[in-house]
Amino acid sequence: MELHGAKVLITGGTSGIGRKTLDRLVKENAKVIVVARDQNKLDQLREDGMIAGAYCCDLANPHAVVQLAEKLVTDHPDLQILINNAGVQNNIAFHEDASTPQTITDELNTNLLAPLLLIRVLMPTLAKQKKAAIVNITTGLALVPKTSSAVYCGTKGGLRIFTKALQNQLEGTSIRVIEVLPPVVDTPMTDGRGKNKISPDKVANEIVRAIRGNRNEIFVGKTKLLYWVSKVSPRVARSIMRGLG
Ligand SMILES: NC(=O)c1ccc[n+]([C@@H]2O[C@H](COP(=O)([O-])OP(=O)(O)OC[C@H]3O[C@@H](n4cnc5c(N)ncnc54)[C@H](OP(=O)(O)O)[C@@H]3O)[C@@H](O)[C@H]2O)c1
Repeated sequence: MELHGAKVLITGGTSGIGRKTLDRLVKENAKVIVVARDQNKLDQLREDGMIAGAYCCDLANPHAVVQLAEKLVTDHPDLQILINNAGVQNNIAFHEDASTPQTITDELNTNLLAPLLLIRVLMPTLAKQKKAAIVNITTGLALVPKTSSAVYCGTKGGLRIFTKALQNQLEGTSIRVIEVLPPVVDTPMTDGRGKNKISPDKVANEIVRAIRGNRNEIFVGKTKLLYWVSKVSPRVARSIMRGLG
């Protein structure tokens, strides 16, 4: 799919993978709209002339997400590409006191419910375009969970299986549905976590390549190996992943 001149919405475009993807998209002359919570970062992107639109929204609030999406429908009837990238990962054991109904709800809403609501409300707009795409950023942890972030793994596993069903539903239409599965990436999300991290630039390149290409499931770096190990021996894959920090 051609990116030159295309209007793209990316959630979480102010940090990490989203920020690098924004840079790549701007390089391709796409018109990019960013959604995040931090108004100062959004203002900075606007001042730098990087973006075609900035929307401050807490994606953990489903009511705010639907309102945002309805505004986007009005403001950007030419929207072609939606990248569901924003996410949070709490390292809280499910049985600990710090794991409250609120922390669980916020993580679930941000990582899973918000992408579904955005897709649903923006679907008629995307369907009006000659070519459109939805890109959902999941993770290798959607294939095999690690122990320390159970809610995160659950939300991403849910987003992965939803993406597969949506691919079935939209087959033969003008809307492509793409899943990108990064391994551990060097971003603020993984501060103090993980080893052998890849750069967010690499993931951003893969996201752009995925939109341009024709494959709808993109395993980045070591997630490809994890996928095959999980197919050949789910037990081995599980024991490799369960100890990760
Ligand atoms: N880093 C990794 O190792 C890794 C690996 C695989 C997959 N991923 C996935 O890649 C995506 C990006 O991760 P990252 O590592 O780049 O994370 P990051 O650097 O922490 O950035 C997260 C982005 O999401 C936004 N965000 C978070 N919660 C939000 C909320 N409630 N409402 C609106 N915006 C929100 C943040 O902006 P504000 O704070 O301004 O809201 C920020 O722009 C996530 O979906 C993550 O699960 C990451």
